[in-house]
Amino acid sequence: MASELVNLEKGFSADELRMELNGILTHAFQEIIGQGYGYMDGDPWDMTEMCTWLINRFGSSQKGGIEKKINSQISNQDVFRIMDQGCGYGNSLRNLSERLARENPEKKFEGYGLSSNIDEIFLGRHVWKSRMATLEELNLIKKGFYPMGESDYSNLKFFGVLQDVHQAMKDFPHPLDLVFSDHAYFHFMAPWLALKRTADKLSVGGVALIRTLLDGGNGLVMDTNFKRIEPIDLIKSLREKNPNYNLLISDKRIDYRLVLGIIKKEDTPFKSNMYLLDKGHRKPTLGSFNIVYSDYFQPDLLSIDSL
Ligand SMILES: C[S@@+](CC[C@H](N)C(=O)[O-])C[C@H]1O[C@@H](n2cnc3c(N)ncnc32)[C@H](O)[C@@H]1O
Repeated sequence: MASELVNLEKGFSADELRMELNGILTHAFQEIIGQGYGYMDGDPWDMTEMCTWLINRFGSSQKGGIEKKINSQISNQDVFRIMDQGCGYGNSLRNLSERLARENPEKKFEGYGLSSNIDEIFLGRHVWKSRMATLEELNLIKKGFYPMGESDYSNLKFFGVLQDVHQAMKDFPHPLDLVFSDHAYFHFMAPWLALKRTADKLSVGGVALIRTLLDGGNGLVMDTNFKRIEPIDLIKSLREKNPNYNLLISDKRIDYRLVLGIIKKEDTPFKSNMYLLDKGHRKPTLGSFNIVYSDYFQPDLLSIDSL
């Protein structure tokens, strides 16, 4: 199934390819629903907080800029929305959101934990389990949003999101003010597609901090000669193409695994200039796609920016 993707020589139309890609991604997600992963963000009572840890991977001036942006975005928004993409237990999301809700009692916060395993998310209370869900809650659950109930803070709500990241970031109904992710992008089948859609979903002034994308694995990007593009060169090209986004890269001396930081300055679509190629004959569940970057439009490849 996956092996046919983006083989335009076989005469598929772009719409057919898009549908096929959606089919592959949906199928792959169905296969991992409920699957266990190794989580790094501690047990439920641990005060681990991945987002701050990610910010601390940046050099001091970039770090200060990111913190300032997050704080000014909190003051600008009526509801500040945070998402942990691939949240595991959700402890980082819980600890961060509770701290922000405590420090800003006059503001409202919503925390969204995206995962393929809803039962393992430890956020608020699983209200739909502990009592009969209301009609409103059932309607949300039908769409993949699991209300986790009130936290200890009346200005904070948690939701578990059981959706494939690629689709979730296309369909998510609100702009997001802060997105973070660790140990998840290297599992995604088309991580740059997820990243492009994440950048598009940011609010103006919103921040995304993504680890395990730039260091190879599924996130490895090649040029049209199939030569690997180094992260630093890739970010340089993406900066040129995206003047309305600040693209930051963490300090390699602090952590060899890089964090990509994105701050959205204007409401324009993110340009990845990337294209998907299939990786041959892998099963969809194990597979991913080769990714090609090109400054010039490639009519024979499936453009991430057009999906
Ligand atoms: C290795 S765990 C990382 C958990 C946590 N961020 C940490 O560092 O401990 C990977 C997470 O990504 C989620 N995940 C993997 N593929 C996904 C997909 N296609 N869509 C949504 N979530 C996905 C898994 O359910 C899991 O929550």
